[in-house]
Amino acid sequence: MRSSPILEVKDLSKRFGGVHALEKVSLDLCGGEVLALAGDNGAGKSTLIKTISGVHKPDEGIISYDGKPVTFENPQQARDHGIETIYQDLALADNLDVGANVFLGREVMKRVLGLPAVDRKRMRAEAADTLKVLDIRINRLDLPLRSMSGGQRQAVAIGRAIHWKAKVLIMDEPTAALGVPEQRKVKALVRSLKQSGVGVIFISHNLADIFEVCDRIIVLRRGIVAGERLISNTNPDEIVRLMVGG
Ligand SMILES: Nc1ncnc2c1ncn2[C@@H]1O[C@H](COP(=O)(O)OP(=O)(O)OP(=O)(O)O)[C@@H](O)[C@H]1O
Ligand SMILES: [Mg+2]
Repeated sequence: MRSSPILEVKDLSKRFGGVHALEKVSLDLCGGEVLALAGDNGAGKSTLIKTISGVHKPDEGIISYDGKPVTFENPQQARDHGIETIYQDLALADNLDVGANVFLGREVMKRVLGLPAVDRKRMRAEAADTLKVLDIRINRLDLPLRSMSGGQRQAVAIGRAIHWKAKVLIMDEPTAALGVPEQRKVKALVRSLKQSGVGVIFISHNLADIFEVCDRIIVLRRGIVAGERLISNTNPDEIVRLMVGG
């Protein structure tokens, strides 16, 4: 039995000039559920999650969160509601350290000689606590992100979502740039998020990963929903057929 959805998308359409990136796409997501979003290059996956998270404005359609229709003007508004998105192009600030990235857009302030200043020490300490809970080891939290591996960067982004107690976490190709041990770590984190009741949207080209961690899959093909299946009721061959059509 499924609980009521935390996120509902109804008939979402998005065009870029003549390109119909999304045509009447609908989906729902419950807490504690991992939903895969699959489809060929250009199918509309990133556009869909960017439209949900406030990067793009939909041309048509309704997004409901916690049972109420919402419009997010920007990703920060979505984050403030509890929807964290880890974008394909990793929306982390390369020049900032781990603490500053976890607190990006929500910096902790202190007063120095009566003037407001960012409290880097406290942000670093709180970020360190969160990463410890996740069993993520990063030796130097004071170094800029640019000096870290893909896996560490991905972990910082996941840590940020957990620190702010996201109810929905959207991950666009979280394992694509990672080595095998780091991919395992990210998949383990997805499982523990699911356990703690977070709803996860997991975009991947890797069907093995999808079959390993997801409960349900939606396949997009040229901007439309080509099919939706329970993972327990489908197989990779059927998903590939839905992806390519015909
Ligand atoms: N900002 C944009 N401006 C114009 N066209 C865009 C923009 N973003 C995406 N598109 C177009 O929308 C379509 C869907 O792109 P999208 O990035 O959503 O695909 P995707 O499924 O994420 O692909 P991939 O698997 O390669 O990441 C493509 O035809 C793409 O060229
Ligand atoms: Mg994409």
